[in-house]
Amino acid sequence: MDPIYPNLVLDALRTVRYPGTDKNIVDLGMVEDDMRIDGRKVSFSLIFDKPTNPLIKSRIKAAEAAIKHEIGPDVEVTISEKYLTSVKPKEEKANPLPRVKNIIGVSSGKGGVGKSTVAANLAVALAREGYKVGLLDADIFGPSVPKMFGAEGEQLYMHEVEGKPMIVPFERYGVKVLSIGFLVDTDSAVVWRGAMASRALNQLIEEADWGELDYFLIDMPPGTSDIHLTLVQTLGITGVVIVSTPQEVALADARRGIAMFTGDKVNVPVLGIVENMAWFTPEPHPEERYYIFGEGGAARLAEELNVELLAQIPLIAAVGSHSDQGSPIALGDSLAAQYFMHLGHMVIDAVDRRNSQLPPTQKVNVNR
Ligand SMILES: Nc1ncnc2c1ncn2[C@@H]1O[C@H](COP(=O)(O)OP(=O)(O)O)[C@@H](O)[C@H]1O
Ligand SMILES: [Mg+2]
Repeated sequence: MDPIYPNLVLDALRTVRYPGTDKNIVDLGMVEDDMRIDGRKVSFSLIFDKPTNPLIKSRIKAAEAAIKHEIGPDVEVTISEKYLTSVKPKEEKANPLPRVKNIIGVSSGKGGVGKSTVAANLAVALAREGYKVGLLDADIFGPSVPKMFGAEGEQLYMHEVEGKPMIVPFERYGVKVLSIGFLVDTDSAVVWRGAMASRALNQLIEEADWGELDYFLIDMPPGTSDIHLTLVQTLGITGVVIVSTPQEVALADARRGIAMFTGDKVNVPVLGIVENMAWFTPEPHPEERYYIFGEGGAARLAEELNVELLAQIPLIAAVGSHSDQGSPIALGDSLAAQYFMHLGHMVIDAVDRRNSQLPPTQKVNVNR
């Protein structure tokens, strides 16, 4: 009789879907890594959000049935239940990304200001300059990086690195890409989404084969959230780029967003501000500028907070349409592409300056 390997069990468990999502219980991070295999005896825990989750019984039954069906009816399966609140954090790795030189968060005070557009095009711009670049889409409220890289509906796959299965980032336009949208069903209930998001995010950072990178960009959720906390606790973020439109409301939110990174406990340097949709230029009249959202707001904010204004990027219809088609505009040679190449150079300089002036960012140690 063939021996039972953990991967055999995990493959069987991948056939068990979590109702209400199109994801399986393995990809959702519900299988605790406490699996024990002793001959034909298999035991492990399944992690649920809370003890009152009505699906616990049916998922445990389904998991047991899947193992018997896929491996053999004689397998003795013991499944315990655990809850997110009681799961001990995995042993902390001092630095989960030792081969990554710079980690850059791209953040904004509110959604819809072009944070993902900036993150994606900045990633492409840096890759075009020959740097090794990774982009992690951590925006649980609306992961859009897969679409912008034409990777919607991609299946994640794993390969082994030193005997350990690792998620393989999707690679396109010279950028390695992973998205929380690959792991967490963002249409599902908010509670479930929130509870699983931090776990999934950790997995995308610590259990993915990012390899050697010069710049690791993170498209962070807008505003403040648990995801920010997870990120600053998991990684020493080199610096953040704040994206805002010139509108007063956006600027007020950006100010709050910046405060989150420069508070007492969190100490992530702000590399600078990007003013997106700074003006509108009709294509036939490249010399005209219409300040539809107001003029110079981000520049004033940058001055007020003593941070750099990295770039002003106009509202250009092609920027949006290229994103929608899965090929960021920074890949081409249009005027819009040049704005993003310029931003890339500004970020490279800002990171260099930051690294020569400040020690590496420490992870945040928060007792909650
Ligand atoms: N400079 C720009 N010119 C034209 N459209 C833009 C620009 N920046 C962003 N957009 C469009 O605005 C919308 C919101 O941008 P997105 O990057 O998804 O924002 P966020 O990530 O902040 O929610 C998208 O449809 C995007 O294509
Ligand atoms: Mg976005």
